[in-house]
Order: sequence, then C-alpha cells, then structure tokens
Amino acid sequence: MAPTPPAIRLRSASIGYGDVAIVRDADLTVAAGEAVAVLGSNGSGKTTLARGLLGLAAVLDGEVEVLGAPVGRLRERGRVGYVPQRHTVSGAAPATVREVVAVGRLARLGLLRRLGAADRRAVADAVAAVGLADRMDSPVASLSGGQQRRVLVARALAAEPELLIMDEPTAGVDSASQDALAGVLGRVAAAGTTLLVVTHEAGPLAGVLRRAVIVESGRITYDGPLAGAQEEPGGGHHHADGTGEPTGRPGYRLDQPTVTAPSIRPRTPGA
Ligand SMILES: Nc1ncnc2c1ncn2[C@@H]1O[C@H](COP(=O)(O)OP(=O)(O)OP(=O)(O)O)[C@@H](O)[C@H]1O
Ligand SMILES: [Mg+2]
Repeated sequence: MAPTPPAIRLRSASIGYGDVAIVRDADLTVAAGEAVAVLGSNGSGKTTLARGLLGLAAVLDGEVEVLGAPVGRLRERGRVGYVPQRHTVSGAAPATVREVVAVGRLARLGLLRRLGAADRRAVADAVAAVGLADRMDSPVASLSGGQQRRVLVARALAAEPELLIMDEPTAGVDSASQDALAGVLGRVAAAGTTLLVVTHEAGPLAGVLRRAVIVESGRITYDGPLAGAQEEPGGGHHHADGTGEPTGRPGYRLDQPTVTAPSIRPRTPGA
C-alpha cells in the first residue's frame, strides 16, 4: 500500500482573492492524524489560508495539496469537513437541527443516496456530541447564535471527514460548550482525523491541539508546539474578539485551565 500522503501540504504557496495574494510564500506540511491550531491577529490571513485548502480562495502561486491531491481535485468532497467562520445557519429555510446535520452526512454519500440507519445514527451522535440532542427537531432558526455554531460543528462531524477544518468553532460559544467541544475534538483526533483549527482561544483546546502555526501579515511566522506559541512576539495581542479580556496578558489564553477530556453525556440510546 502507498504511504499515507500528508493531509495538508503547502509549498511556497500564495493564496488570495482575485490577483491579490494575502497568504504569501507559505510552507506547511500537516501529517495525517495531526491536530494543529492556526493562530494570529485579526486580518493576518488565517481564514484565507483555510479557504485556500477548500478551493474557496485562489492558489496564486506554489502548490497546495489536500489529502494527496491538488486543491479542488479531490473527488470525494465528504473527505474534508469545514466549519466556516462567523456564519450561522441561514434562517431562510425552516430546517430542523436534524435536517441541517443530515446534509453534512449527505455530502459524504452523494446527494442521490438516501440516509440509512448508520447515517441516522451518525447524525444523532454528532448532534449529541455538541450537546443539542434535546433540540434535534427544533427549527435551527429558533436556536441562539452559539447553538447554531454548534449545529455547524455537528454538521461537519456527521460526515466523519478525514480532515476537519474549523474556523473559530468556539467563537461565541459558552465555556461549558467549549469544554464539551474540546472533548469531542479529542475523540475525533484520537480516531485519526486530522484537525486544523483556526482559533483565538486555544486554551480550551490545548489538550487536543499540540502544534500551532502563527500567521502574521500573511506569513507563517511560527510553527511548533502550541505551548511555545504564546511566547512568540506575534502571540500577545489577540483580544479583539470582544471578550473584554484585559490586554497585556499572553494571547491564546493558555493561562486558562486546561481541559482534561470532559465527559460528554451520551443522550442517545446505546450511544
Ligand atoms: N473575499 C475577500 N476578497 C478580498 N480580500 C479579502 C477577502 N476576504 C478577506 N480578505 C482580506 O484578506 C485579509 C486577511 O483576511 P482573513 O479573513 O484571512 O483574516 P483572519 O486572519 O482570518 O482574520 P480574523 O481573525 O479577523 O478572522 C484581510 O486584509 C481581508 O481584508
Ligand atoms: Mg478569520
């Protein structure tokens, strides 16, 4: 069998919009099964980097490969999961939590296949994992912003992707739910899924994300242990997230208590 290719490989890659490069000359290799935080100030290019991996921002120079294929060439889209930044679920359609999460599962199956029992179980497990089992049949539009974020996380989890890219999954999510998410991601990582998580709040995820990449002004300025990222000069000014955190403290909140695999209460029978 051929050796597993890296989950992500950038070589001298520039990524941007139109012909304007935002991320420049980036080299990054993430092996299958790694769990990596992407840190950096507002506007530094973190989302652009994530979008470049999904074919949503243009690769302007160099090479970007995802799961061994040039970006955009991957045949099974369901192998890569994505939780976009800021977006909550569109309120336009009166979809329930179950329906929105099931769409994530369909991405894996192809739109023409029907969900079977295993799929329905995966949907239920994903919703339970984000603590919304009791809201399964609620219209998504009736949930709070933070709950809607968690629905999007569940939608990505339900597809059981090989590579899961999350852009600030904990933004606007309360600390109990962040801790629960850390537990979920810990299990997902332990099962071998590669994680790339853009975050301003690595603290709650510090037990899961061991490696960090810092992006500053479109350049990767640090790539190493997450614990070392807070000492970087670029690592200390990240309180523009509206939390009212006092400035002058180290960034990324590594000073927060580390989460040790909180128990996720299974709420589905047999889970
Ligand atoms: N669709 C777009 N078209 C053109 N420029 C864009 C687009 N999206 C982002 N940019 C620019 O790219 C730069 C980096 O933005 P990006 O969203 O990648 O930053 P970020 O690191 O994710 O910031 P934040 O922490 O605020 O989410 C910014 O200068 C932004 O104005
Ligand atoms: Mg962003």
